[in-house]
Amino acid sequence: MGKSVLNFQKLKDNNEKIAMLTAYDYSTAQVLDKAGIDGILVGDSLAMVALGYENTYNITIDEMLIFVKAVARGAKNSFIIGDMPFMSYNLTVEQGLENASKMIKAGANAVKLEGCNDHITELTKRCVESGIPVLSHLGFTPQLMNTLGGHKIQGKTADNTEKILECAKQLEKAGAFAVVLELIPSASAEYITRNLTIPTIGIGGGRNCSGQIVVTDDILGKFTDFTPKFIKKFANLHDTVLLGVENYKKEVKEGLFPSDNESFELAENEKEKLNVTE
Ligand code: KIV
Repeated sequence: MGKSVLNFQKLKDNNEKIAMLTAYDYSTAQVLDKAGIDGILVGDSLAMVALGYENTYNITIDEMLIFVKAVARGAKNSFIIGDMPFMSYNLTVEQGLENASKMIKAGANAVKLEGCNDHITELTKRCVESGIPVLSHLGFTPQLMNTLGGHKIQGKTADNTEKILECAKQLEKAGAFAVVLELIPSASAEYITRNLTIPTIGIGGGRNCSGQIVVTDDILGKFTDFTPKFIKKFANLHDTVLLGVENYKKEVKEGLFPSDNESFELAENEKEKLNVTE
């Protein structure tokens, strides 16, 4: 099956887990593509992870497009989702549609929209009608951090879980192809997953979601500013890269790098003219 949202529903219907990751650059996208990851999110988490901001508020749609283009050049086979950044879709449906179409023109196959209200539901519907698939994002939504009071677990009561489900159903009806559930107790995420037709993609949502997404730099141990509880480290790239850089520095200082292997030779007669021996 080619690049389409149909694959996500097929995986859920076949009881196969959906494995998604983030990528922000060409070479990471190439690796994820090679590994056959089901979906690559160019997340606005890149504001912190790639650009060093404190949160996601400072990244703009034009900046996001640079990263979407890089990932699209690297991942030829994977389904790519462009994360719509803060205030790039909140003003009007027209503003949201225009910016979502920029994501698609940059090489994304879909967009992600955080939250759930009448505006987001209408925008989801209009995007889908226009051929722009939408991945919804509920539970803890980082762009509402100042309203939610920080990185707080959502869906901690049955009532609150029902509210999240209600939102998810609304977005499902509007045409969203899947919904990210962030920072939600496993049992609440299980309940929401069971009561939806579209897949749920957990991030801190436990094992009963239809699939999982995490920040690649977190699970590979490359981004070390903070590590959420829901992260398992599958590699320790920070230490690997640090060791490589330290070894490089040592060899440069000691005159061991570059050696003959990494250098280019000049013909003997030309050396004589220059009076050099190397
Ligand atoms: O920005 C991001 O990376 C996300 C997560 C769901 C991974 O929104």
